[in-house]
Amino acid sequence: MSFPETRPRRLRRSESLRRMVRETILSPDNFMYPLFVVPGKGERREISSLPDQYYFSVDELPREAEIIAKLGIPSVLLFGLPQKKDEVGSEAWHPEGVVQRAIRTLKKAVPQLTVAADACFCEYTTHGHCGVILDKERGEVDNDSTLENLGRLAVSYAQAGVDIVAPSGMMDGMIGFMRETLDEADFDRVALLSYAVKYASAYYGPFRTAVDSTPSFGDRRGYQMDPANIREAIREAALDVEEGADMVMVKPALPYLDVIAEVRREFDVPIAAYNVSGEYAMLRAAAEKNWIDYPKAVIETLLSIRRAGADMILTYHAKEAAQLLGRGGG
Ligand code: PBG
Ligand code: ZN
Repeated sequence: MSFPETRPRRLRRSESLRRMVRETILSPDNFMYPLFVVPGKGERREISSLPDQYYFSVDELPREAEIIAKLGIPSVLLFGLPQKKDEVGSEAWHPEGVVQRAIRTLKKAVPQLTVAADACFCEYTTHGHCGVILDKERGEVDNDSTLENLGRLAVSYAQAGVDIVAPSGMMDGMIGFMRETLDEADFDRVALLSYAVKYASAYYGPFRTAVDSTPSFGDRRGYQMDPANIREAIREAALDVEEGADMVMVKPALPYLDVIAEVRREFDVPIAAYNVSGEYAMLRAAAEKNWIDYPKAVIETLLSIRRAGADMILTYHAKEAAQLLGRGGG
C-alpha cells in the first residue's frame, strides 16, 4: 500500500490553522458602498429593483452614513436622480444638485467618511445616454462636447468638497481632461477613480431601472467595451493611468475576474472592481428561492474579486458583508 507523502489536509484541520495560511483577506476596508440620492425631504424608500437598497433624500444621509462608518466601511459612492431631465443632463453640474448637496452634508456630518461621486449624465438626460447627442439622426454620443460637461461636473463636485470623482461614461480622454480642469481650478487634491474598463454589460439592468437611465434608443456599445476583449482593457487602463487616474476600475466584476487579474499584473495603481447590480440581483434571487446559503455566497463572491486582484470592491453587499465579517464570517 502506498500512502500520499504530501497531505495538504494537515493545514485545513482547524479554523486557527486555516486562518494562518489564508492568502486573501477580505475586510470592510475594501468596500465602497453605493448610495442613491433623490430630491425631496424625509425620503428613505426601498429600490424595487435592488432589494434592501434605498433612495435617500439629502437630509436622511447623515444617519445612514453614521451606520456605514460604524460598520468600518471607509467610503461611499454617490449617484443622483435629478428633479428634471434635459437633453444634455445639465442638472448634473448644478451647484445645488442633489449630489452636490449630499457631498456637502456628508463631509460635514461624517468627515471621516471618504466621499466619492459618480460622474456621468445618463441619469440626467432625457435619452438616457452618457453624454451629449449632437447628431440626432446618427444618435451617437459626441465625445468632446461631453468632455466639456464632465469638466463642469468635476469642478462642481470639487467645490462641494468631494474626495474622489469617478467618471463612468467611457469617453476618450476623460481622465486627462478632468485632471487638467480640476488642477486649473485649484483642485489638485481631488482624486480620480476612473471607470477605465467598463463593459457593455447586461448586468446593469437593476441599476438602470433604479435610476431610470435605460437608453431610449440604441445601446451603449458605441462607448462601453465589447465583452469579448481583454487586450483592449489593458490599453484603456494604460491610457487612464497615463492621463493621471489615481485608481482604475474594472466593471462588472464576476464575469471579468480574468480582466481584473490582468489589470492587476500590468499596473501598480490601486484597482477597484464594481460588483454590479445584476450580480447582486442574482444572489438575492437565488436566496429568495432558498437555492443558496446567501451569507456564505456573499463572502465567497467578494473573496473571489479580492483574489483576482482588486483592492477595492464597490458593492451593494457592503453593509451585510461588513456585519458578517464582524461576526467572524470571513
Ligand atoms: C452609467 C452607470 C452604470 C452603472 C453605474 N453607472 C451602467 C450603465 O448604465 O451603463 C452600473 C452600476 C450597477 O449596475 O450596479 N454611467
Ligand atoms: Zn452613464
